[in-house]
Parts: sequence; C-alpha cells; structure tokens
Amino acid sequence: MVAVPILLTRVIAGIPVPDTPLINSSIALTRAALPDQGYNHVMRSWLNGQAIINKLPKANRSRIDEEAFAVATILHDLGWSNDPAYISPDKRFEIDGAIAARSFLQAHGGPHWQSSQRLQLIFDTIALHATPSIARYKQQEVAIASGGIMTELVGPSNSKDLFGDLITVEQEVWDAIVKEFPNKGLKGYFNDVMVHLCETKPNTTWDNFVSDYGEVLVPGFNRTGHRVVDLTQRALAE
Ligand SMILES: *[C@@H]1O[C@H](CO)[C@@H](O)[C@H](O)[C@H]1NC(C)=O
Ligand SMILES: *[C@@H]1O[C@H](CO)[C@@H](O)[C@H](O)[C@H]1NC(C)=O
Ligand SMILES: *[C@@H]1O[C@H](CO)[C@@H](O)[C@H](O)[C@H]1NC(C)=O
Ligand SMILES: *[C@@H]1O[C@H](CO)[C@@H](O)[C@H](O)[C@H]1NC(C)=O
Repeated sequence: MVAVPILLTRVIAGIPVPDTPLINSSIALTRAALPDQGYNHVMRSWLNGQAIINKLPKANRSRIDEEAFAVATILHDLGWSNDPAYISPDKRFEIDGAIAARSFLQAHGGPHWQSSQRLQLIFDTIALHATPSIARYKQQEVAIASGGIMTELVGPSNSKDLFGDLITVEQEVWDAIVKEFPNKGLKGYFNDVMVHLCETKPNTTWDNFVSDYGEVLVPGFNRTGHRVVDLTQRALAE
C-alpha cells in the first residue's frame, strides 16, 4: 500500500508523532468514549508503537501508513467503552472496536478514506490487536499496533517475549510515556474491563483470552462445554 504522506509532526512525551486533523479527531473520540485509564492506555499504546516506527530503517518506514496506524491504535479500545452505542451483545470487544473505527472513518475520514484497502487495514489492526501470535505476522501496521499495545501493558522486556526483535522501545522511553499518561491503577482497571466482558457477554469470550479472566476472577464462570475441545469431542466422527 502507498502511504499517504504525513507532512506535519508534533512531539508527545518525547516521541515525534504524525499530526493530522483525523488523528486529532480520533483522539477526541476516544477521549469522550473511555474513562481516564482507558484513554491513557490507548495514548501510551500509540506512543509505544510510534516509537517502534520511528526507529525503523527509512526504507521500511516509508512503507507504513502512519496515519492509519495512529487512528487504529488510538481507536483500538472503543469496544471497552461505557457508551452503549459502541457495544454489541454478540461480538468480542475487538470487533466492536473495529466496526466503530471503520464507521467513524467512513463518516468523517474524507476523500483519503474511501479506499476499502485502507479501511480493511484499520479493521484488521483493531480486530487482531490482542492476538500477538497472529498479529506479528500480519502487515507492519497490524504487527506494530499489537506490539505497541502489549509493550504499553507489560513493558518492553516482557513484550519482546511475544514479538521478538520488533520491540525496540527503550525502558527510558517507556517510562517517559508513563509519566505523561500515568498508568497508576492499570491492573485493577484492566481486570475490571475483562470481568465486565465475562459477565455481560460471556459467549464472546469462550474462544479467547478474555475467558481466562473469567476463570481466574469471576466466581461460577464456567466455559466447559463451550470450548473448541468440547465441540470437537461432541461433534467429530470417531
Ligand atoms: C492537533 O492537536 C494539537 C493539540 O491540540 C495541536 O497542537 C495541533 O495543531 C493539531 N493538529 C492539527 C493538524 O489540527
Ligand atoms: C525491513 O524490510 C526488510 C525487507 O522487507 C525486512 O527484511 C527487514 O526485516 C525489515 N527491517 C525491520 C527492522 O523491520
Ligand atoms: C450471545 O448472547 C447474546 C445475548 O446474551 C445474544 O444476543 C447473541 O446472539 C449470542 N451470540 C452468540 C454467538 O451466541
Ligand atoms: C461447567 O459446565 C459443564 C458443562 O455444562 C458441567 O459439566 C460442569 O459440571 C460445570 N462445572 C462447574 C464447576 O459447575
């Protein structure tokens, strides 16, 4: 894909980032949709990802659609919103986020966002962000978004276990991002979000990591009978 040229930049928490009206309106959307903890998580995720992009060799970097990367990363957790407008009863949170972001771009992205390929990139980046073992082998934007999000959550060293050499964020850079967008209370917030998903739409969790939180944190949560292993034991021919 040919990246749309980004002319302006600004610096946030020491990280030079692209500066476009659409990035700003995405920040405003996510700010309105999420509580402080969620907003700070999303901003830290974008900045960690952009820190990875900024260190890529020029030839690699020039192939990245940095506005798409920014918008997808900034909008990646709309499926965690308290605003019911974004939340389906029947889709996992990443898909709610992907659909919400795609709708926002279709309505407000303007002429540069008529491309179905660009919209698909946004959709895939958000849909796969919490699945590092797939995301890291997808397009650069998808891999780096997932890498930035996981790096923000668990730190550069743990994130390297998931993404290998993709993660080039230095600890001092990570620390400076946290200083600008504090992460105090992140564990409690993250647990609360996961528990809420398990309680409000358990049938979106059976096949993914969210139900791990149900098993650990929600009394009476029971995925047995719903797992792929249960289905195949019931359904496959001997
Ligand atoms: C985006 O918002 C920042 C902070 O308010 C502002 O400095 C910048 O000029 C805005 N960029 C665009 C392209 O409007
Ligand atoms: C840069 O791109 C080349 C060619 O696609 C690839 O082999 C290399 O791993 C990339 N380097 C980084 C740091 O992503
Ligand atoms: C999951 O449950 C919700 C309501 O509890 C329902 O609307 C939805 O269709 C169900 N989805 C699936 C895939 O079973
Ligand atoms: C969980 O559900 C399965 C399938 O319905 C059932 O066999 C099992 O006893 C349940 N486990 C608990 C701890 O309730």
